[in-house]
Amino acid sequence: MPHADARKTDRFIQLLLANATVFVSGEKLAETLRVSRMTICNWVHRLQREGMAIEVKPQIGYRLTQVPDLLLPQLIKHELRSKIFGKNIHHYFQVTSTNDVAHELAQEGAAEGTLVLAEEQTAGRGRLGRSWFSERNNGIYLSLILRPPVRPLHAPVFNLAAAVAVSRAIEQTCEISADIKWPNDVLIKGKKCCGVLTEMNTDLDRIKYLVVGIGINVNHSVFPKSLEQQASSLFLEGGRRFSRIELILALLSHFEEIYFEARQKGRDSILEQWTQRSSFSNGKEVSVDLGERQVRGTTCGLGREGTLRVKLPSGQIEEIVAGDVVCWE
Ligand code: BTN
Repeated sequence: MPHADARKTDRFIQLLLANATVFVSGEKLAETLRVSRMTICNWVHRLQREGMAIEVKPQIGYRLTQVPDLLLPQLIKHELRSKIFGKNIHHYFQVTSTNDVAHELAQEGAAEGTLVLAEEQTAGRGRLGRSWFSERNNGIYLSLILRPPVRPLHAPVFNLAAAVAVSRAIEQTCEISADIKWPNDVLIKGKKCCGVLTEMNTDLDRIKYLVVGIGINVNHSVFPKSLEQQASSLFLEGGRRFSRIELILALLSHFEEIYFEARQKGRDSILEQWTQRSSFSNGKEVSVDLGERQVRGTTCGLGREGTLRVKLPSGQIEEIVAGDVVCWE
């Protein structure tokens, strides 16, 4: 669905939500939204196909019969616990990647904290050129625009901050304990339930904006065969379905707190929290795939810019900037 179209449909849903118990006539909807009654009729059919419970009474109008399990801004906004993160929300039923949309918005000047949410991604992407499984309505696929006033060199710590925020949100909302594998995979019982992909646009000496893309496997009950071994969901690990909206609200408030604390107290506060929350921070025997070569050794903390320090059998310390970490057992 093109973005402009999706925005109009959102305004339509807003009207239905605002009048949830009564029938609203097609004529009134068409007039308010400045579209034809035929367009309204087409939107209703499309939204019904997306799973929205809209009752249609010929000659009378339309009524929303149930609040849908969708990430609608109207359902998130009045529960928001954060001040800046999520103040502007763009919701889509389907996008290629929420990161793509966030880049477009950031280039148009979108404010810090602008949030892009999608029910489904057709080309969700992951780290190291991988794709991200983005099944419709079961996961959280979001991107947040940040504009930290720092040099590009400092960007990786915000990546770590996102993982800390997700793990805090999962623990608070789902009461499941979550581990973090460097740099930002959130694991539950050793399986990956969340990934973070941070992309940036920079000048030589300053970050113009960061797009922090977060994917959380929330209510997925099955994964493609190729992912089964390493991926899981909160539903599979926690034994029940969870509210995606509750998780997003918690995530935004934790992320905002960590982000502004780091702006005040310095980035070390992020590194400390990451270190406390990750079983990979110290003393873990790991193998790191760097693409062109493998490194094996024992983890010994983070470097100042969020690099992973690995002590090699020779005693030498290697600082890993990017790579895929696996346990060496
Ligand atoms: C990883 O490889 O672990 C990172 C996965 C990041 C996935 C999220 S889903 C929302 C955002 N949009 C994308 O295309 N990717 C990120």
